Amino acid sequence: MAIPIFPMTKRTHHCAQLTRQNLGATVALVGWVDSVRDHGGIIFIDLRDREGITQVKFDPQDNAALGAQAAGLKPESVIGIQGTVVARPEGTTNANIPTGEIEINSTALEVFNISDTPPFPLDDAGGDKVNEDLRLTYRYLDLRRPKMRKNLMVRHRATKAVRDYFDDQGFIEVETPALFKSTPEGAREYLVPSRIHPGEFYALSQSPQQFKQILMVAGVERYFQIARCFRDEDLRADRQMEFTQIDVEASFIDREDIYNIFEGMLKKVWKSVLGVELTTPFLRMPFVDAMNRFGVDKPDMRFAMELSDFSEDFKNSGFKVFQSTIASGGVVKAFNAKGLADLTQGELKGLEDIAKMLGAKGLAFIKIENGEWKSPITKFLSDAEKAALQQRLALADGDVVFFAAAGWEKACAILGRIRLEAAALLQKRGKLTIRPDDWKFLWVVDFPLMTFDEEQKRFLATHHPFTSPVPEDIPLLDTAPEKVRGQHYDLVLNGMELGGGSIRIHQPALQEKVFKDVLKIPQDVVESRFGYMLRAFKFGAPPHGGIAFGLDRMVALLCGTTSIRDVIAFPKTQKAQCLMTQSPTPVTPKQLRDLHIQTVIPVTETKPETK
Ligand code: AMO
Ligand code: AMP
Repeated sequence: MAIPIFPMTKRTHHCAQLTRQNLGATVALVGWVDSVRDHGGIIFIDLRDREGITQVKFDPQDNAALGAQAAGLKPESVIGIQGTVVARPEGTTNANIPTGEIEINSTALEVFNISDTPPFPLDDAGGDKVNEDLRLTYRYLDLRRPKMRKNLMVRHRATKAVRDYFDDQGFIEVETPALFKSTPEGAREYLVPSRIHPGEFYALSQSPQQFKQILMVAGVERYFQIARCFRDEDLRADRQMEFTQIDVEASFIDREDIYNIFEGMLKKVWKSVLGVELTTPFLRMPFVDAMNRFGVDKPDMRFAMELSDFSEDFKNSGFKVFQSTIASGGVVKAFNAKGLADLTQGELKGLEDIAKMLGAKGLAFIKIENGEWKSPITKFLSDAEKAALQQRLALADGDVVFFAAAGWEKACAILGRIRLEAAALLQKRGKLTIRPDDWKFLWVVDFPLMTFDEEQKRFLATHHPFTSPVPEDIPLLDTAPEKVRGQHYDLVLNGMELGGGSIRIHQPALQEKVFKDVLKIPQDVVESRFGYMLRAFKFGAPPHGGIAFGLDRMVALLCGTTSIRDVIAFPKTQKAQCLMTQSPTPVTPKQLRDLHIQTVIPVTETKPETK
């Protein structure tokens, strides 16, 4: 019998659809060859499409030519088949997939394309073992893996839930320009040369911040945008140069309104993507408490091991490092890494190195083993000091205490990081369970409006210069700017900063004062950078505020991964390259001439390897 030729096989069903209900039906399926197995001459193909897998059988006794053609198919080839739905023989069913009780007795095969052998296995386990660079070079294959397909789907579902939610709440989506003007206050920008204006540049928008505030002046009242943002930052697992924000701004609202609106959004997203009912309102914590208790402004609240301050107890300590740090205005903080006394010399050295990288002079510790306090520093400690540690850290056998003696911020940061590292070591030992789906949301509030920058010897906005001070602190702007609290809030989930925003300054005079008197930006710079905004605000700016959420970060947490590269279809590597398309690349001299650009390649710098 000749093999029927189709103009093109059109699917009647997708590959996760057919069940016993369809027995006897004549169907057509299309997709990729997931595997080819030869069972004593009978060929079984697992046919895969976006939705799942269906087993297709080619019996050479029915059609020898068809069987031979199927046997020759290579994995990842693209085919269409026709056939009849039959029940799988008893004992060969697969309860793990929806189509596990049936198979297709194939009567026709169309080969759309033969595939080369993929450079790595496309199942989840196999793909996870290979180098990420290889996955990124062949991203189109990587995205065929079930896990990556699921991540794309979760991202789509989450984005759709967000759009539906804001639409329901009366927000309208407005697009703002990606080509903006340079405002060097924030992160480092990407500049785009203007061909028409020689020597002038646009900057790619770091966020729609200024436009969304202008939209409030324009009377939009409730704005949102799924907005692409660009920042030339050092890339990390949770940072890309090009990322997506759920960006929101609203007029005539206060902080409570923002908390409500966003808790509602997260409830809707978690419900529609994961079927999980989140409990609101979320916990709130002042910035100072977050730092004191967890050593960071984005605490992971899924486990305790909180930091304590022992400055009062150690101010006359026989351990000079502690005593002198406190005498010079610093603090001594400590926490109990519960059950980690069995840490190895290598692990301890690793922790010390991390502490030193963060500016610590050392990482004092006390191990408690068999009732004994083991440490180079115990001999210096008085009974009262030991009693204070014992009581406030609830010390028990098998525990280890870590100390940081430094300025407040540094001491917090060091122990905040060591706390996370200790938790990871405990988790590895099975002594602590930290579940990715233990959703511990937290609003961090009451940030200082300004932070003093030691390098520049001036105050910088903690969030951005449009953030409104807490009204009762406004008089302090002139006398003690460091004491002024900002109406800024961050949303934190499981140790990741998901979003941040603020109530803005809407009075042009106050905004001008912050620029000039507090941030000390010269008058002409204020005019050239922000003049248009100050002008707009003189034409009736409503009180307003907003927030932006990292969509990539939110989706990563929904997918149970910590790397946002896993939820971005085509991310850049740590070295800011796209391995698939091989960008960035040099351009032609003509292109540069047209843009009035000359390049100077630093002699010491070589372009990083791309393969
Ligand atoms: P902010 O700079 O805090 O605020 O950014 C808001 C959120 O965006 C995410 N994010 C990133 N995600 C991935 N890669 C990056 N490089 C990156 N940088 C930031 C984070 C962060 O919480 N205009 C203000 C918001 C406002 O005030 O309304 C802003 O952009 O999840
Ligand atoms: P030293 O007597 O200086 O060798 O320090 C004794 C212990 O204290 C060592 O474990 C050091 O790592 C640690 N140490 C030194 N300076 C500090 C500091 N500023 N904070 C915490 N630990 C420290």
